[in-house]
Amino acid sequence: TIGNSTNIKWHVCPVEKTDRQKLLQQRGCVIWITGLSGSGKSSVACALSQMLYQRGKLSYILDGDNVRHGLNRDLSFKAEDRVENIRRVGEVAKLFADSGFICIACLISPYKSDRAACRAMLPTGDFIEVFMDVPLRVCEGRDPKGLYKLARAGKIKGFTGIDDPYESPLDAEVVLQCNTGDCSTPRDMAEKVVSYLEEKGYLQ
Ligand code: PPS
Repeated sequence: TIGNSTNIKWHVCPVEKTDRQKLLQQRGCVIWITGLSGSGKSSVACALSQMLYQRGKLSYILDGDNVRHGLNRDLSFKAEDRVENIRRVGEVAKLFADSGFICIACLISPYKSDRAACRAMLPTGDFIEVFMDVPLRVCEGRDPKGLYKLARAGKIKGFTGIDDPYESPLDAEVVLQCNTGDCSTPRDMAEKVVSYLEEKGYLQ
């Protein structure tokens, strides 16, 4: 039995990940960007995707906000729905990586155990966690969508960092820090991820 289904079998096709990677001349992996709302996840994801494109590498962004418009439109922000949100995106990211793409997932993904579960779905090394280490006061100072203001006023309940937890990673492959209001540009931050990918042989 798999999940709630019985009598299902895995079907194997002779065209494999290695064949697709050879065609695409790249290695599929997942770059998982986690951090508070307003920490700059989407901006770094976009800068990274552009830099990879310029190097002739295909990437695809799974952005929490965007995925919640479609695949995950049935999910709220209560704990169990966030867990399901991350699980589904983890599964989709895994499929992208298997297709040979560099998948960039950017979601708050506040719970450590969910990120660990996504990591466990992939071959060792292929899950690259990027932590946007930006303090709450900086994110709240930016408040690009005005959501922190609403959360402080009690108009949004269960907002991450205000009245819902964010569990910082201790084992992220890349940490992008910004302790002051004066942060590096998304491009400079994305550059650090590119360096990591180069160092680990993902960009040959
Ligand atoms: S999660 O926690 O990973 O399931 O969240 P995610 O799918 O990344 O969605 C985060 C964006 O949703 C908006 N939003 C909220 N965030 C946190 N808590 C609550 N209650 C909430 N309600 C709406 C918010 O704009 C997040 O945007 P980002 O891009 O992270 O700033």
